[in-house]
Amino acid sequence: MTNISPEKASSETLWAGQRGERWLANADRFEEMLEPIGRALIELAACQPGERIIDVGCGTGATSIAIARQVSAAGGVTGLDISSVLVAEASKRAGMLGLENLHFVLGDAAIAELPVAQADAVVSRFGVMFFSDPQAAFIHLHGFLKPGGRMVFACWAPMLQNLWRLEVENMINAHFPLPTPVPRAPGPFAFDEPEYVQEILQLAGFKNIRITPWQNNLGIGGAGSNARSAAEFLLKALGNAQLPEDVPAAIGMAIQSELEERLKMFETKDGVQMPAAAWLVSAQ
Ligand SMILES: C[S@@+](CC[C@H](N)C(=O)[O-])C[C@H]1O[C@@H](n2cnc3c(N)ncnc32)[C@H](O)[C@@H]1O
Repeated sequence: MTNISPEKASSETLWAGQRGERWLANADRFEEMLEPIGRALIELAACQPGERIIDVGCGTGATSIAIARQVSAAGGVTGLDISSVLVAEASKRAGMLGLENLHFVLGDAAIAELPVAQADAVVSRFGVMFFSDPQAAFIHLHGFLKPGGRMVFACWAPMLQNLWRLEVENMINAHFPLPTPVPRAPGPFAFDEPEYVQEILQLAGFKNIRITPWQNNLGIGGAGSNARSAAEFLLKALGNAQLPEDVPAAIGMAIQSELEERLKMFETKDGVQMPAAAWLVSAQ
């Protein structure tokens, strides 16, 4: 099934294209990095055998796969993503594991035509902050839920609490000024204000909204990273924090080596570990 509106530009188009491809190229490193938050999210979602779950912005499917095991053969998981390459990879990974209660759908979650009022839960690990019109998207997502169904997702807390991201922005900005971030614009930090998330959910018809902080270190650049591989990951793999393409090569190299130097203080025996913060959100 394909539900992508061809005229939509911006964040949706980026994820459907090069941003999705860049995520795929670094998928294992992203999944290793996000695993601790995924674990907390899955615990909060508390999916039960027999339940039907939708994973929004499922990427290569790590969360979908973990939940498919929880809901057992009596239940089912639909992973939904706007990137065809990520949906293909997620399908391949699930196929290799022989999970028959899990399937993946290519589509824009804001308009995707999935069955209405059938899901016990809609979950998402960092897949709901990219909508051009978040209010309309959350009204649409609410429609997938059975009466009493739940929405559970993780989104990033402010960049100031996410040193792994702040350090990169500061490092680039020192050499090559980046555009000033627009609050609430589609992107990783669109939902960094809990009041805004609360408002969107309330207006979409959700009740019992709970927003709890998650704070810990994350392994930047995946298992066994070092300052060099983590700097490269932060500059080249991330969607927004990547080095702009028009940065002259010499400046790019200076940024990379300064960032590498800075990240050495975060090197541990378990790779580069840096402070991170997210919101875990649940609603009915
Ligand atoms: C930060 S990645 C997270 C991927 C995955 N949930 C994970 O944690 O590994 C965001 C994901 O949301 C997807 N996405 C962005 N906008 C979307 C939309 N409007 N509809 C469906 N998926 C979307 C992207 O393609 C990408 O896979």
